[in-house]
Order: sequence, then C-alpha cells, then structure tokens
Amino acid sequence: MTQAPPPRIDETAAWQALAAHAEAQAAAGTTLAGLFAADAQRGDNFSWACGDLLLDLSRQRLSGETLRLLLDLARAAKLEHWRAEMFTGARINTTEDRAVLHSALRLPPAASLVVDGTDLVPQVQAELTRMENMVTALRGNAPLEPVWRGAAGQPFRHVVAIGIGGSDLGPRMVVDALAADHAPGLGISFVSNVDGADLARALAPLDAATTLFIIASKTFTTQETMANAESARHWLQTRLGPEADWAAHFIAVSAAPKAVAAFGIAEERRLGFWDWVGGRYSLWSSIGLPIALAIGMANFRALLAGAHAMDQHFRTAPLEQNLPVLLALAGIWNINFLGLEALAVLPYDQGLARLPAYLQQADMESNGKSTDRWGRRVNYTTGPLLFGEPGTNGQHAFYQLLHQGRQIVPADFILPLRSRYPLGRHHAMLVANALAQAEALMLGRDLAQVETDLRQSGMDEAGVARLAPHKVFTGNRPSSMIVLPQIDPFHLGKLIALYEHRIFTQGIVWDINSFDQWGVELGKRLAGPILEELTDISRQPHHDSATNALIARARQAARG
Ligand code: F6P
Repeated sequence: MTQAPPPRIDETAAWQALAAHAEAQAAAGTTLAGLFAADAQRGDNFSWACGDLLLDLSRQRLSGETLRLLLDLARAAKLEHWRAEMFTGARINTTEDRAVLHSALRLPPAASLVVDGTDLVPQVQAELTRMENMVTALRGNAPLEPVWRGAAGQPFRHVVAIGIGGSDLGPRMVVDALAADHAPGLGISFVSNVDGADLARALAPLDAATTLFIIASKTFTTQETMANAESARHWLQTRLGPEADWAAHFIAVSAAPKAVAAFGIAEERRLGFWDWVGGRYSLWSSIGLPIALAIGMANFRALLAGAHAMDQHFRTAPLEQNLPVLLALAGIWNINFLGLEALAVLPYDQGLARLPAYLQQADMESNGKSTDRWGRRVNYTTGPLLFGEPGTNGQHAFYQLLHQGRQIVPADFILPLRSRYPLGRHHAMLVANALAQAEALMLGRDLAQVETDLRQSGMDEAGVARLAPHKVFTGNRPSSMIVLPQIDPFHLGKLIALYEHRIFTQGIVWDINSFDQWGVELGKRLAGPILEELTDISRQPHHDSATNALIARARQAARG
C-alpha cells in the first residue's frame, strides 16, 4: 500500500473511549442481572431482525452507551467504506492482490456486477448452469448420457468428495445440515485427511463401478487432496482393470485447469471458479457441487438466495440495526475490552454438528492474524478461539467449564424454532435446554440462593456449609441468541452469510486482511523435507534434537 497508514485502531479516540467505558462498568459492578433489572424491555431492546432471523444480544454485557461507543469504533475503522469496497470488487485482499467477491456468487441472475470492465454475473450463472446439467444427469433426472456413467456403463450410486479446508468444510457441513432435503439414490461421503484411514474407510463399502469422485481443490496442488486423489485413482484402476476409463469416474472442481488436465481429467469434467473466491468462502461456488448433488439445484439456489438476503441486509441496513455488524461488535467488546477471548458456538440442531468446525476455518483462518493491513504488529487480540458442539451434547461435556470455570467464555446459541424431524416433545425439550442454559449463564446462582435451596431440601447446616460453595454459579456470562424458523436451505444460507459478514466486520475493525492465510504455509514447507527424511534413510535429518529423535523413531517403526 502506498497511502500513509491510518492511526492504529487501538490508538483512536473511539477505542480509548471504549476502554474507559469498560473500566467504568467494572468499577460500577455492572452485571447482566443488573442490566435486566434496570430495563424491563431489555430482551426486545437488544434484539434485531433480518426478516425472520432474530439476533438477541440482550445477554451480552452491553448497555445502550456501550453499543453507541462500539458503533463509533466501527465508523472510526471506516467500516462502511470497506464494506462498499468488498461488494464492488476492490482488491481488498492486498497481500494476494485479489478481490473478495463471494457475495457475487449469490447475486440473482438478473443482477449485474461489473469489475474491471467485465460483468461477473453471466460468468457465475454460466458455471451454475454447467453445474445444474451435471446435477440433473447424475441425480437421474434426465436421460443418462454415456459421459455421466461409470467406465462399465453403470449409473453412479455413490459420490466421494475429496478436498480439504475450504474445499471440504463448507460442503460437508451443509450436506449434513440439510439431510432433511436429501434426495434418495445417490450416497455422498467426504474424505479430507491425508491419514489413509479416511479414504480407506470411505471406500471400504463402495463398488468401484458405481463410485464417482469429485476432486475439489482451488489450486489442485494441496498435498492431502492430491494424495487422496491419486490413491482413489489407483483404487479404481485396480478394481476396474488397467484398460478401464478411470477418468469417467472423476469430476474436478478447481480454478487451476492446467493442473486438472495434468492429472488426467478432461476440461469438460471440470467446474471452475475464480481467484476472487477465497477457499473458506467457496461453498457457494462450484465447490458446492456435493451440496447440489445432495439437495438438488432448486435447493442449492435457495441456499444462495438466503445468503443474498443477508448480503443485502449487511450492505444496506444502518449499522445500528445491522445484524452482522452488531454481532461483530459484541464480539469485539468481549475480546478486546472485557478480555473474554474464546467463543463457544452452540447449535441447538443436530444437523449443525459440523458448524463449529466450519466456523473454525472461516473465523480463525480469516482473523487469526497479528500484523495489520499496513504491516504493523498489532497489540490487541484478533479473532476468538472458537469451538463448539451441538446442544444438548455439549451440556454433558464442556458446559461445566462454561458455567463454573475461571475463564468466562462467551457463547453463540443457535436456535431453530422448528425441527425438520418433529418427534413428540423432543424439539420443545431442545428449545427449553437452550433457553435454560443461556439463562443460567446470565443469572447464575449466588451463595445465599444455594444455601436456601439446600436448607429447603432438608439438609443440615453442616451439609449446607460443606456443599454450598460448590454449587455457586457466578453468572454474568455473556451469550448471543441467534433464532431462525428452521434449518432449511434458505435460512442456512442466511445464517452462514451472517457469520461471514461478522468475520469481515471484525477484520475491518482490527485493521487486518481477513482474506489471506500465510499462517498455514510454514508447517506445509517444513513437512516436505521431513517426508523425504522419513522415507529415505540415507538422508541425515538436520533439525532440533526433538524432531531428529522422533524422525529416528518413526523410521524405526516403519522398518517394523
Ligand atoms: O489450509 C490452507 C488452505 O489454503 C485453505 O485456505 C484452503 O481452503 C485449503 O487450504 C484447501 O486449498 P485448495 O482448495 O487449493 O486445495
């Protein structure tokens, strides 16, 4: 960048006002219980909607003044300017000199987005049409041309999607989340890990003659994906015979046509996308092929429409009512001003079991940085340490620490109001648990209340004195509640885009580039020589003593 850098965000008046405000709140002993007591309408006053998706921040430690100051911070960071830059195709990913336009993948066909003199929408729609043709053929909704049959002429019954990171996590999460929308007849599994167990276990029950592989890799060079793709090719060759047309069992999804051709997959079997689609933002592109195969093209388009609805909201709603912005600012308040640096994502929906894993990449690969856009080291935390499990499973695992641990971990509860699998009182029980957990985190139970409970249960005074301290819940633990009608394609699209724009907003306030990922490079580079040393014992390892010793052990184990 050639412009003069702006002042560091933590040196702005807006940041310092928030720091002073946090100190004043701490000194005044402001608590969530107190904030609720002071405002009978707090639940409504701190809830905002984007259509039928509700964001309830009333259980965050925010006052009206806190929100006002946070919005000042967003404006000091020029959020509205950067938001416009993103949506119009400016090259805001400066270290890779790329635009960030996953939102263009969700634009309706009649829209137009001209970047560098080219309208991107027709390109996007053309690739969607190619995808639709494949989906229609492979789901058996059209006469099956030989090109979409296996080498021996049989239709495909199972798809194995091979990819990793952004080329796996999004499709895998969405396919899982939308199980209620799956069409029968075509099984789908995912393989990502270079651990041979992943591929071997996926392939064990499958018949090579009816198995189709999708190799999803933007670069088509990722070590794990290429190793799995080569082993899949070998599996086909050994089962179908050396003369069989193994390439009839492959589709590639990649932005690297030459590498796809070098692997042996013909161009007409490749779906493409563009360098302005970041890996972790790519499920909306051809990378979503497994999703479209699972749920059909109409549902895939509904997923895109849901995300577009959130794009429109993020782009046009005033910051004061803008859900991604408000969610982002609540996170910044927790991380940078209250020192609460983790985030538990707690979906009360079994289908969203993979959402925390998906968000770990979306959030932590985007914002886990310590250099600002101008090359300066930052001295504030960027990005939460994110983890989660679906409720109620998490309740019987790590919630103990959420309720009584020394660390205070803010949480996002995700609550669909209806189940796609209505079954007696199950959903009411699920909702009751979500609401109870958020209430318990917020209010806690102090010593006096615990003692009263124990006495009322008939316990003697010695027992009360012994047990009561262990049953205290300090409360005052913040959480957000994200409420949707149900998890269907449209609302899932909206939910994912809400998180994407929350991550973008935080990256802008922290003044970092959320769209590169240099942090994954060093380990990849070091693995190359170590692999050589493990497999070629004539090489002398030259590492630290710990690494050398483990290389020696691994070599010995490999010799048996
Ligand atoms: O983990 C690093 C990364 O570069 C991710 O950003 C990306 O989603 C993943 O690898 C897979 O990359 P590719 O699609 O090129 O195989």
